[in-house]
Amino acid sequence: MSGFTRREFISASAAAAAGAAGSSPAALGVVLPRQEPAAAAGASGAAANLPVVIASSNGLGGPPARKSCVELAMELMLAGKDPLTAVVEGVALVEADPNDQSVGYGGLPNEDGVVELDASVMYGPSHRSGAVAGLQRIMHPSRVAKLVLERTDHCLLVGEGALRFARAHGFEEMNLLTEASRKAWLKWKENHSDDDDWLPEGSNEISPQAAADRAWRHTFGTINCCAVSAAGDLAGVTTTSGLSWKIPGRVGDSPIIGAGLYVDNEVGAAGSTGRGEAVIQTCGAHTIVEAMRRDPGLSPADACKEACQRIVDKTKLSRLRTKEGRPDFGVIFYAVRKDGTFGAASIQEGPEFAVFAGGKARREKCAFLYPKGS
Ligand code: GLY
Repeated sequence: MSGFTRREFISASAAAAAGAAGSSPAALGVVLPRQEPAAAAGASGAAANLPVVIASSNGLGGPPARKSCVELAMELMLAGKDPLTAVVEGVALVEADPNDQSVGYGGLPNEDGVVELDASVMYGPSHRSGAVAGLQRIMHPSRVAKLVLERTDHCLLVGEGALRFARAHGFEEMNLLTEASRKAWLKWKENHSDDDDWLPEGSNEISPQAAADRAWRHTFGTINCCAVSAAGDLAGVTTTSGLSWKIPGRVGDSPIIGAGLYVDNEVGAAGSTGRGEAVIQTCGAHTIVEAMRRDPGLSPADACKEACQRIVDKTKLSRLRTKEGRPDFGVIFYAVRKDGTFGAASIQEGPEFAVFAGGKARREKCAFLYPKGS
């Protein structure tokens, strides 16, 4: 078991069974106190403001009517919830948001037009993890991953087995493909080959305009969220619809412990977004936590940069490199240390990440290896 109290466990399980509607603090049975984050002495001995939540940039923002992922995760921790429940319920807001086409409901589908979701969770105090991959028809894969951690002796359930496990725990099934994502998929399908019979709009008109917009790209959107509680306990989650238009059954880095997520309660937590294949092949999140563990350990931002550099060094194939010899894809790493120090880094300059620390939710710029335009 995860080390939760029975009360927390029942509350979390009830929230999971409640499906999409169960992601508000009220639905979790939480009364939020007015409380400022506490100052605490971190593992490094430096004073840090705990608790801290970090996430990919989609962890802040969303429709004005709803809280952001990092805000809800912080509220839940301040109300006494453990950091695993906090981050899973935080990302559940994004999984339920049809406008985020990288995660959960509304995620971009595989090449057959079917949405397949991957997610993992890891809880520092018990060093337990849970994950699902290729899960169809369930809006909240991260809640299912949490139940894999809490209610099985396994680490990863895939495909039909993961769906049957979710069904057994009362998760509601639904069509995850929104109209916007179906149209995006159809556009890809109509444009990805000129050697089949799928034609883009306008192709059969007598005087077709320049019909085919061939500038489609695969996308790798995801949300990663990691937290450290006031007591210095760590947890993390990574959840995604994965690579758009992927071969059915393709699994990315998000549900792979050590790649898209890793947590060590003695050191810190790390996660990733971006091209999963590159993160898996360099054990990205594990690389970061081990770099923070070294004596002297790297800062979270420098550890994330080191993992980015590893990807640069190991990207050997010309089809994945720019003419300057750099990766032609994006990866972003996020990390938080046990003392609350946090950071993120990307290969190219530009991306931001979300953080709730020192009583304030905000976006900050990621460290990077290559400046814009270089
Ligand atoms: N990082 C998300 C994926 O590659 O599936």
